[in-house]
Amino acid sequence: MENTPVKKKRIFSAIQPSGAMTLGNYLGAIRNWVAMQDEFECVYATANLHAITVRQDPKAFKQNTEQLYAMLLACGVDKDKCIFFHQSMVPAHAELSWVLSTFTQFGELSRMTQFKDKSARHADNVNAGLFTYPTLMAADILLYQADLVPVGADQKQHLELTRNIADRFNGIYGNVFTVPEPYIPKQGARVMSLVDPTKKMSKSDDNQKSFILLTDQPSVIMKKFRSAVTDSEACVCRGENKAGINNLMDIYGACTGKSDEEIVAEFEGKGYGDFKTAVGEAVVAVLEPIQARYNELIKDRKYLEKCASQGAENAAKLARRTIEKVYKKVGLPR
Ligand code: TRP
Repeated sequence: MENTPVKKKRIFSAIQPSGAMTLGNYLGAIRNWVAMQDEFECVYATANLHAITVRQDPKAFKQNTEQLYAMLLACGVDKDKCIFFHQSMVPAHAELSWVLSTFTQFGELSRMTQFKDKSARHADNVNAGLFTYPTLMAADILLYQADLVPVGADQKQHLELTRNIADRFNGIYGNVFTVPEPYIPKQGARVMSLVDPTKKMSKSDDNQKSFILLTDQPSVIMKKFRSAVTDSEACVCRGENKAGINNLMDIYGACTGKSDEEIVAEFEGKGYGDFKTAVGEAVVAVLEPIQARYNELIKDRKYLEKCASQGAENAAKLARRTIEKVYKKVGLPR
């Protein structure tokens, strides 16, 4: 048989612009975004419509969104290999979200653990958008007929709901939506806090030493790793009560490609001081070229805007097909 080209599966993912990004975001998610571009047809967005479910200062918000876009490009998201845009620039997200909200039950949304958590944390602003947040997410995914969605534990329930909404709609109107599957990337480091390694690394931690920002200066990165919490065993090896060392080994492995055995052998007979310095240096080596590219990109506003509008145009083309089908099926003139 002739070589028939296999159609690549389509992936959709988005990240909320909520301030600076951490090493955890990079090793846990963004690095996979970059890797997936070769294997899949990727559609990526900054989820800025999701972000306004929490009150934002307009100027800082716009800046944050642009910085996120530039940082993702600096990390290797390639506008020529994927479609990469700001969610707000493609109106179909909001349009489909409304339609899908009428196929989503109040009870289902009430059961979303993220809604319960967020409404407890922002008790003064439990807005309807916070409640219907998952229908907008379903719209993001279904609009592009995505086959796969890379999800962490925190978004699993939302993807499950997306699948239910798609099934429900398809059950009534025929096969309109691709029902997306979760995609668990091959390499997905879960980076923990450097101060309390039983907690996930988070930039909202009060202790600045607990997280590495992608924009941290090398000297700051080295300092934070030197003060990282370890244990009193003085053995660079994995163990049950060695959350700190386990985390540093994860980070070191992710940044150098070294296996656990190689790391253990490398630091046999050496102290934690040497190991922490090596981890810091490995992280600096990964982040320095990213920071150099970021500093160039962030100065070039015109270029960033051009990339985003080009991405939005391509996204809108794909989105239009779905939205036209949906409106027609439901009986909405367009
Ligand atoms: N809600 C996601 C988060 O906070 C971001 C997001 C928005 C997303 N739309 C999406 C993720 C669609 C995957 C698919 O992390």
